[in-house]
Amino acid sequence: MDSRRHIALKESIRSIPDYPKPGIVFRDITTLLSDPRAFRRAVDALVHPFAGGRIDQVAGIEARGFILGGAVAHQLSSGFVPIRKKGKLPHKTVSIAYALEYGTDEMEIHVDAIKPGDRVLLVDDLIATGGTACAAVNLLRRIGAEVVAACFVIDLPEIGGAQKLRDLDVPVRTLMEFD
Ligand code: PRP
Ligand code: ADE
Repeated sequence: MDSRRHIALKESIRSIPDYPKPGIVFRDITTLLSDPRAFRRAVDALVHPFAGGRIDQVAGIEARGFILGGAVAHQLSSGFVPIRKKGKLPHKTVSIAYALEYGTDEMEIHVDAIKPGDRVLLVDDLIATGGTACAAVNLLRRIGAEVVAACFVIDLPEIGGAQKLRDLDVPVRTLMEFD
């Protein structure tokens, strides 16, 4: 993406101070999603490095990763696998607890969501501590996935999550950074 487009995309994100608790600046992608050009640019930029390669499944993290991941999967002609908060998936699951920038949670994936050896691209809107994404990689690997890469619209590099993913040998692509 050229730098002018990059700036326009960044400007489409709304920042909300002290949400969901004091001290957190919430980076709100709903304003990107509702802007047709920004949404397309973001999805195109997420897809670009993987177009023409083999991605069997896109794994999206609830909830915002579903919106972006579904669009990315469609453009890559791959399948889509949801990684959900605990208690939402109907079939047998594997689950993992993880820490968030503002709390803790537990996520699950269907035990048969992918075929062993499937090449999987992980998609979410934002990486902060990396707790969510590292847990998702862990779950995917436990059911036999090859995690090809992880991509996010937003990186909060001062918090260090992207580096934690790279330490797990997962290539990381992000479209913009916020302090
Ligand atoms: C947000 C975001 C990522 C995660 C990033 O999701 O969409 O999934 O936090 O934080 P981390 O890198 O510190 O783990 P959240 O858990 O708020 O859920 P939501 O998408 O359902 O709002
Ligand atoms: N998830 C974790 N940290 C976040 C932030 N600062 N803004 C939006 N989503 C987040």
